[in-house]
This record gives sequence, C-alpha cells and structure tokens, in this order.
Amino acid sequence: MTNSQTPQITIAIDGYSSSGKSTMARQLAKTIGYRYIDSGAMYRAVTLYALRHDMINRADNSVNAPLLVASLPEIAIDFKVDGDNQSTLLNGENVETEIRSIAVSQCVSPVAAIPQVRHALVAMQQKMGESKGIVMDGRDIGTTVFPKAEMKVFVRASAQTRAQRRLNEMIEKGIATTFEEILANVVSRDHIDETRDESPLRCADDAIVLDNSVMSVEEQNNWLLDLYKKVVASL
Ligand code: DC
Repeated sequence: MTNSQTPQITIAIDGYSSSGKSTMARQLAKTIGYRYIDSGAMYRAVTLYALRHDMINRADNSVNAPLLVASLPEIAIDFKVDGDNQSTLLNGENVETEIRSIAVSQCVSPVAAIPQVRHALVAMQQKMGESKGIVMDGRDIGTTVFPKAEMKVFVRASAQTRAQRRLNEMIEKGIATTFEEILANVVSRDHIDETRDESPLRCADDAIVLDNSVMSVEEQNNWLLDLYKKVVASL
C-alpha cells in the first residue's frame, strides 16, 4: 500500500505493559512495509545480561547499577527478521524466548529506571529511526525518543485485562504461572514505570489515546491502520 508518493513517517506507540501495543504495532508495520522495533525487548535484553552476570540481587531485585552502567559498552542489541518473526539478539545470541521469562519481567523495571541505561538505549533507538519509515513501541517513544513523531498513540487497558492477556500468552507457551502472580507483576511494573524520575511512562500531549479493554485484535489493528491513513493524508 505504500508508494513513492506516500511520505515516510515515524510512528510512536506507547502504553502500559501487556496492553497489546506490540501486537498492533507489529501488524501495522507489516501492512505498510515499515520497520518495527520493540523497545521493551531492548530493556529486557539488558536485564537478561545483568541477570546472567549476577548484577541483580534476586532477593529484592535490586540492581548493581554502577557495574551494569560500566558494562554497557559490552552490550550489543540487534534484531533479526525472519519472515513474520522478529528475534532479539544480545551480543549475537537469539534471546527472544529468554527475555520474556518471569525472571526478566520481574527485574526489567528497575533496570529501565537507571538513567544511563535509558540514555544508551534511547540513543540506539533514535539512530534506528533516523530515516523514518519506522513503528516503535514502548513507554517513552512519543515523549522522549521521537517527540516529533508524526503519529503518536497511547494504549491503555485495565490491569485485570492486561494480566489475563499475559496469562493466556504464558499458558500458550507452556510456562507455569498464576493470574495473581501476573497481576502483581503488571501492577508493580506500572507503578515503577509511572513514578521513575527518568522519562516516566506518560501520555504525550499530542498522542491519540486508545483504550482497547474491550476491543478484539482485529478491531484494534483496523483502528490503527485507519489512523495511519488519516495522518498520512493530512501531511
Ligand atoms: O513492553 P515490555 O513489557 O516488554 O517492556 C519491558 C519493560 O521495559 C517495562 O517494564 C518498561 C520498560 N520500558 C521502558 O522503560 N521504556 C521503553 N521504551 C520500553 C520499555
């Protein structure tokens, strides 16, 4: 559907964890032929690195921030596209499955609150978006990474709905967990993401808000595609 007349834009999709933003962002990118970047996967990959190098105290999930910050130059994150699948690479290793584990989910918010980690990843994300034609999802894409993005969406859904969605994903993958454990993780991550000093989760003033609590995947994909068409037509 893109052609040489269609301007390439930057699309920022922010929102709460498990709000379905990655699903809709990925589908939109595929439909319009854009590159898709899951910025949360980058924070997860740094967290996995920290866990593997004993930089996180699992008793209270506190992070040895100075050690992790000193190691940042040794952490390379990339994405590999294989047909419809996209995998996250940590120093060349495919860690797509491992970064979705409960252990990483429990430790990622404190890692993502470290200013130097954010600065390093934001710089990488801005480089990835230099030539536009990108859909990126996360927490601070419309506010910090691409404040001038032509299209910004902020996705919300109730904590219960989001926990149920994540539980369904876990069950599909055969990962043993409970609704209560997931809900507690969703609520605690929301709190850390919203209250951290460095680029907290916040809806950009010029973002369009979507509450998809009662929307199907197809409905939200159509909603996003319609919005993209309107934005491009208005340029
Ligand atoms: O979207 P996700 O659940 O995979 O994100 C994992 C964590 O990374 C989440 O707790 C918040 C953090 N994150 C962030 O701080 N900034 C982003 N742009 C993306 C994710």
